Amino acid sequence: MMSLKKLAGASALAFVAAGAAQADKLTFYCSAQEDWCQLMANSFQDATGIDVAMTRKSSGETFAQIKAESSNPKGDVWWGGTGDPHLQAAEEGLTAEYLSPMRDQLHPWAIAQAESAGNKTIGIYSGALGYGYNSDLLAANNLPEPACWKDLLKPEYKGHVQMANPNSSGTAYTTLATMMQLFGEEEGFDFMKGLHKNINQYTKSGSAPIKAAGRGENTVGIVFMHDAVKQATSGFPVKVVAPCEGTGYEIGSMSIIDGARNMEEAKKFYDWALSPEAQNLALQVSAFQVPSNMSAETSPSAPDMSQIKLIDYDFKKYGSSDERKRLLKKWDDEVSTLPQ
Ligand code: F6P
Repeated sequence: MMSLKKLAGASALAFVAAGAAQADKLTFYCSAQEDWCQLMANSFQDATGIDVAMTRKSSGETFAQIKAESSNPKGDVWWGGTGDPHLQAAEEGLTAEYLSPMRDQLHPWAIAQAESAGNKTIGIYSGALGYGYNSDLLAANNLPEPACWKDLLKPEYKGHVQMANPNSSGTAYTTLATMMQLFGEEEGFDFMKGLHKNINQYTKSGSAPIKAAGRGENTVGIVFMHDAVKQATSGFPVKVVAPCEGTGYEIGSMSIIDGARNMEEAKKFYDWALSPEAQNLALQVSAFQVPSNMSAETSPSAPDMSQIKLIDYDFKKYGSSDERKRLLKKWDDEVSTLPQ
């Protein structure tokens, strides 16, 4: 029979062994495109041996989930999605401050995003808003080629335009905030109301309208231009438009969730995701955003931001909790309820 002392020693050993066998893990919330999220999760897991559990949801949905879980956080890191809800999360104390040793490799716009939020988020890519259309469907319906935002208000486009719901989608919130900044609040809401008449569906995810256009199920999709380029380079008859009035843009962001259960793994992911190697993975999945690491590669197919008339998007204002809530409520009350 084993003595008591030996028994205690044996169970302590068993405990250590069990601890060693238990793999490190990371709960990864992702708001970029699905194939990119998968590739990031798998590549990080391969590089570190850390087990990654990934969930893809749109930017506004992930924000709402992190908020709902805040008394008992389940996620560790939130990567991708438009910057505005990341900034709102920072302001509401849902994300944690972190100063990565990778910061000095980043473009100033990525650091500016961090600094405006007490380093509770950081920029990982940027991309301009616009729209794309299926040129076959446009021709089949005898529709003129649109070139401006206001072209999309023409009655002949009724039932031909799709965008996402700004509550769930960061792309659609960027659209709403862009109209406020391009036209002013009153005219901007008039634009959204006029557009509503032509909308065939508000999707949950931001890139869905242009995927539908690629498949020939929708004519015009209001999306980030890089998402339209992805359809075009995949062989679909999609034309990409940088609207003539000018347009807004996103700083896609990353944040560590406050109270993360796997904080060390979250920081490891964060540092890795800012490296050129990790950012170059985008090229494998035709993600044509501009990466935030200055040494990462930008695809020659990526929309050239220097050739697009960009507004000076006020991230501080449109990423603030009060303003985002106010605009979404106003859109819910005054636009989404209108008859079409
Ligand atoms: O990955 C594609 C992309 O358009 C990103 O550039 C953007 O941050 C994200 O999707 C927004 O997705 P959603 O509109 O669904 O929140």
